Formats: sequence, C-alpha cells, structure tokens
Amino acid sequence: MGPRLIIVSNRVAPPDPKGSPAAGGMAVAVKAALKNRKGLWFGWSGKVSEEPDAKPQMIDVKKVTYVLVDLSKNDVQEYYNGLANSVLWPILHYRGDLQEYTRADASGYIRVNQLFADHLSPLVGEEDVVWVHDYHLMLLGRELRARGHRNRIGFFLHTPCAPPDILQMLPLHEQIFGGLAYYDLVGFQTANDRDNFARYLTARGGKPVRGGEAYEIDGRQVKLGVFGVSIETKTYMRLARNAGRSAMIALVKESLGGNKLALGVDRLDYTKGIPDRIRAFERFLEDNPDWRGKVTFLQITPKSRSDVKDYADIEREVTGLIGKVNGRFGDAAWTPIRYVNRSYSRTVLAGMYRAADVALVTPLRDGMNLVAKEYLAAQDPQNPGVLVLSEFAGAARELDRALIVNPHETDGVAAALKRALEMPIEERRERHAPMLAHLESHDIGRWAEDYLSALAEGRTSRRLLDSLRVFFGTQQGREPIATL
Ligand code: UDP
Ligand code: G6P
Repeated sequence: MGPRLIIVSNRVAPPDPKGSPAAGGMAVAVKAALKNRKGLWFGWSGKVSEEPDAKPQMIDVKKVTYVLVDLSKNDVQEYYNGLANSVLWPILHYRGDLQEYTRADASGYIRVNQLFADHLSPLVGEEDVVWVHDYHLMLLGRELRARGHRNRIGFFLHTPCAPPDILQMLPLHEQIFGGLAYYDLVGFQTANDRDNFARYLTARGGKPVRGGEAYEIDGRQVKLGVFGVSIETKTYMRLARNAGRSAMIALVKESLGGNKLALGVDRLDYTKGIPDRIRAFERFLEDNPDWRGKVTFLQITPKSRSDVKDYADIEREVTGLIGKVNGRFGDAAWTPIRYVNRSYSRTVLAGMYRAADVALVTPLRDGMNLVAKEYLAAQDPQNPGVLVLSEFAGAARELDRALIVNPHETDGVAAALKRALEMPIEERRERHAPMLAHLESHDIGRWAEDYLSALAEGRTSRRLLDSLRVFFGTQQGREPIATL
C-alpha cells in the first residue's frame, strides 16, 4: 500500500456533490494541502448518531480516502460545543473571561479524543505520517502513542496561542496543553504564538533543547515551529479573473448602481470584531457626509456554532447594530449595510473580492485570516482594491503593506476606510504588488511542504524519506527542504 499522509481534524470537507462551500480556514487549507497527494483524511462526519460502535464511513475520492465518524448527542455537546468551543476557543483567542468550563465537558473532550484514536489506530500503517489539526484534538497524539504508534505525529494550531497567564486559566491545562508534548512537532501561525507556548512550557518547568528549537517537558521532547498558513494563490487569481463572466457578480455590480463596495467576509464569531467594524462604518458616515449614498458595505457572515451561547449573543448584537445604522443613515434608495448569513462558493467569493474596492478584515484576534490573503490574490493587479487589516490577525505579520489598524479604535478604522476609498491608483498598485508576490511564493503548497519537511527532520529511516518523496512528488520541481 505504501506510506500515506494521514490528516486528522474535527471538521472534514469531503467533496460535496451539491458544491456547498466549506466556511472555515482550517478545512479550506487542509483541502488545498491534500490536493494531488495520496492520503487519508479522518474526522467527524458532522452527524449525530447514538450508535457509538458504528464503523466509520469511508469515501474514496481520487487519491484521498475520507474516514468519517459519527458522534453521539452528548459527545457533540460536551466535546464540540463544550470544551472545544466554549473553553479552548475563547482561551486561545485571549478571552479567558468567556470560558464556561465544566468537568463534564472536560471528560467529554478526553473521551472523544480517545474515541478518535480507537477508530484511527487500526488504519495507521507503520510508515504513515500523521498530521493532526487544531484545538479539538490536542490529546490525540498522546492517545495514539498509548496505542503503540511510534510514527511521526505532528500537530498544527490554526488559532492564535495566548500567553501563559491566559492558558493557565484552563482548569485542566497541564493535561490538555501538556498533551501537545506527545507530538513530534507543534506548528503555530506566527512567532508570537510559538513564543507564547514556549513561555508556557518554561513556566511549567520545560527546558529548551536542540538550540531552542525543541522543549523537553515531562520526559518528552517536542519541536516547536512557525508555519503561516496560506491559500492556493494561483487558483484564486485565475478564479477571480474569470469571475467577470459570472451572472451573479454582474447582478451584484448592477445592484450597487455605481457605489463603491466595502466588503467583510467572516464566520459569525465574536473574535472577528464585526460589531466594532459596524461602529467604525457608522463613524465614517457620521464624519464624511459626502460619502453617504456613495458607498455600500456588504457583510457576508455564515452562521457558526449556533448552539453555543456567545454565538447566539453576537448574532443579536450584530443584527441590532446593523438595523440601527441602516435606520439612521439609509434612505429609500440606499441601504448602507447589506448583511447576509449564507455562505458562498469559492468561485462566487473570488468575484465578490474582485468587485470590492475595500476589504475590511478587522478581527479582534485571529490565527491567520485567509480572507485577507484571498482578497489580495483576487485583485486586478492593474487596479487593485485596498485591504484594511487588523494588527491582531496573524496575516498582519506578512501583509505589512495593507492599511494596518487597531480594531478597537473606531476613529482609526473609520479613517482607514476613508483613506482606502480615496487612495490614488499608483499607491494602490504599489502596496498590492509586493503582497501579491509574497502570496505567490508563500502559497498553501509551500506551507504543507515546510511543515512536513520539519516533521520529518532528524528521522533516519530511508522509507520515511521515500514517503516524503511520495507526498512531494506531485508538486513539480520541489524537493523537501529537510536534510534527513
Ligand atoms: N468562506 C467560504 N464561503 C463563505 C465565507 C467564507 O468559503 O461564504 C471561506 C473563506 O474563503 C476562507 C474561510 O472560509 O477560506 C475562512 O477562513 P478564515 O481563516 O478567514 O477564518 P476562520 O473562519 O477560519 O476563522
Ligand atoms: C476555524 C477553526 C477550525 C474550524 C473553523 C470552522 O477555522 O480553526 O478548526 O473548523 O473555524 O468552525 P467549525 O466549528 O464550523 O468547524
């Protein structure tokens, strides 16, 4: 059968015959990274079933086998809505104050990590490389080791990593964050995230080893690395070029009646700073009467994790604020803010990005934010739009020619929007070109290669080297960077 790349994540995005888009950066990135690779993608089916011993569903599509496990209602509540999304998500995004911890949810989290390991274990071949994604599965490495797997097993955190004082707000932090030490390599989006985790390990008595690239803790060594996730840059550029022919995009443009378009695209999540952005748009209209009736703000916001209380709260807040701004400034012929809760396919999104004069990407905290990168890739290089980007998105470390803002400063975001709408074409081009060049050289393929090479480093097995060649063989002209 030969060695394979085994990807494990809570959310899996098998090709959907109805073409429904995957809203969420992790699945979008993993899908792109698996393209043309031989592998297996294991995770939750998204379905609830009360038959815990049911065999996972297997679907073969091209070179990838998707293996999908159902979860019980209780599992979904305690593991997904509970510890993962009501505790770990806020803590990792620096919002320890929002966590709603219960011991039952912590047990559910441990139980589902064990369940995943039980189902996955028989599928793991001796030479397979296992790559686990995101905060839902911090304990999976430990569980696979407990079942005797000595494979290379890596982990990548798509979210930010908060400083130690905040990580320690999790009551079971030693067990859960300590679980990451069972991986060979833990990857982070930015150096700041990596350093925060390194400081957490140090606070717990961990010691830097191998020149500081790894840490020794509880008798194990784990390597820490930085690998900023990216997009399929070339594909996005092509999709956006072709979007001019789309009837849907033509309709959107016609409906604007010559107005400038400011665009926001985010899951409905309190980390995305949507209320602050709406307040900034309101301030912009207050301060700039000349722009009233001449700009439309389109906010595309698929609903997310609606069973979690904070998500229901943010929905009420956003709809209330939008109603207020539209009521205050709108008139019969102009609605300042258009707000949609559906999610769009990549093709339609690429067209929307290209049609937008400004993208407002202003999260309060974000691991990377792929929307920022997609927006830049989708622009016409001769007449590009302007990216307004929060300094608290991982993407701001790479996209430094965007208009960088502090999303908490309403006046600053309002001023950046005005500057973006009025920016001369030369400055727009001059800012866009280096950022697009960066995205062309640092695309999603490079992210996966860099991570997998680092995961393989230090391993002497000839077969592992061959297995990496299998993964990279399909990526023309690229060799693994690792010296094995
Ligand atoms: N997305 C999509 N359709 C939508 C809205 C979003 O496919 O209607 C995709 C978007 O293109 C991006 C991802 O969802 O690839 C969102 O990733 P991001 O890193 O910006 O944020 P996350 O949701 O992961 O926090
Ligand atoms: C972020 C997380 C992913 C998650 C996605 C969508 O990108 O890092 O792990 O899949 O949001 O959230 P959901 O809860 O719908 O999977």
